[in-house]
Amino acid sequence: MVQPGAGVVVDLPDPAATVGLGMGLAEILPAGAILLLQGDLGSGKTTLVQGLAQGLGISEPVTSPTFALIQEYPEGRIPLYHLDLYRLTPEEVQQLHLETYWQEVAPGIVAIEWPERLPIRPVNYLHLSWQSMTSGRRVTLTAQGTTPQSWLENFSQSQGFGELV
Ligand SMILES: Nc1ncnc2c1ncn2[C@@H]1O[C@H](COP(=O)(O)OP(=O)(O)OP(=O)(O)O)[C@@H](O)[C@H]1O
Ligand SMILES: [Mg+2]
Repeated sequence: MVQPGAGVVVDLPDPAATVGLGMGLAEILPAGAILLLQGDLGSGKTTLVQGLAQGLGISEPVTSPTFALIQEYPEGRIPLYHLDLYRLTPEEVQQLHLETYWQEVAPGIVAIEWPERLPIRPVNYLHLSWQSMTSGRRVTLTAQGTTPQSWLENFSQSQGFGELV
């Protein structure tokens, strides 16, 4: 049982482990899930989205959407939407009215790199925070809202890894 507000910590020794984390999340996340991926440049956020895509059965290669802003991958079990807000300011993000986007597209998993640029965060989301280790990365997953809390519990049980902090 993951206590509300507690995080699940996952150590990722190499890029394959990051892909594996994405695949594990793809197994348990429902359509409508929003993931905020917070980490420095080059921490492995896009690599995790590649794992999500693989887990959802998407064969199209996932590349960094820095210049495209939003990439849509509709062919998997549920659609995947990949956003990279790196080049935008919060004011510019506000003008995009992303919330209307969520309401109009078929519900899927929404993965957002550089969520620091969001002027307002969604009500419910899973937050992944990256830390660089001597070699590899450490990711801490926390839930915002009761529904994401249940995803986190499902994830923790399905993987049998992660420790509470
Ligand atoms: N667990 C890991 N250990 C070591 N290297 C990793 C790990 N996960 C990913 N990487 C590597 O880190 C590099 C950067 O990965 P990636 O492009 O996914 O980062 P990013 O967070 O999306 O960067 P940006 O902020 O520029 O978008 C890649 O070479 C990737 O293979
Ligand atoms: Mg990236």
